[in-house]
Amino acid sequence: MTTQTMIAAPADADARFWNRIARKYAAGSIADPTGYETTIARTASLLEGLGHVLETGCGTGTTALRLAGNAGHITATDISPAMIDIARERLADSGTGNVSFQVAPSGAEPLAAGGYDAVLAFNVLHLVQNLDDTLAHLQAVLKPGGLLISKTPCLADMNPLIRWVMIPVMQMIGKAPHVLSFTCGELAGALRRHGFEIIADERHASKGKDTRPFLAARAVS
Ligand SMILES: C[S@@+](CC[C@H](N)C(=O)[O-])C[C@H]1O[C@@H](n2cnc3c(N)ncnc32)[C@H](O)[C@@H]1O
Repeated sequence: MTTQTMIAAPADADARFWNRIARKYAAGSIADPTGYETTIARTASLLEGLGHVLETGCGTGTTALRLAGNAGHITATDISPAMIDIARERLADSGTGNVSFQVAPSGAEPLAAGGYDAVLAFNVLHLVQNLDDTLAHLQAVLKPGGLLISKTPCLADMNPLIRWVMIPVMQMIGKAPHVLSFTCGELAGALRRHGFEIIADERHASKGKDTRPFLAARAVS
């Protein structure tokens, strides 16, 4: 697979970028609310009856709090302490009792006794430093048969101007984070290589070309 690092940046630089924009990110609105609701409903149906769920790259906690009623407990993590601060504020306001937030980069999340029943990775797998290392870790923290559910932008399937012009320019002025560029096919291939069987490959966007596949994959080895 040809994952490509556009500008290599260490994890602490990633955390600083997301810390800087956390309040603005929290105040922003969801770009495609209809598509988001489809993803929430589909994820809720896949989680039904499951015990311990990990969400990696949880941002300000919106999705973990939305799905709290569909799992026994959700441990939600993010590389950015500022994102986690906001998530904890929202948690306190919500009165939800079965969600906890922790600072952790993808690939170094806390372990759960016996493993997680499911891992959620929304809009984050293209942001990690090394996709293979991250998938290997997520496979290892899941129970055998556990589910990895992802919706991730596949930059290599987008308009080349975004990948080759817009993102590099924005990175140069500090307005875009480190990203990996892979196709949807390459992402699916990486999951299979790391012992996942893909059980759902869907598109949830309500408009436009959708290069963010919703993938549900079972840990089979
Ligand atoms: C685009 S936001 C998505 C947030 C949330 N998952 C959502 O879908 O709304 C990306 C999030 O991933 C986090 N992030 C970036 N790189 C990460 C990494 N290597 N490990 C864990 N989290 C990371 C950022 O701090 C940010 O909160």
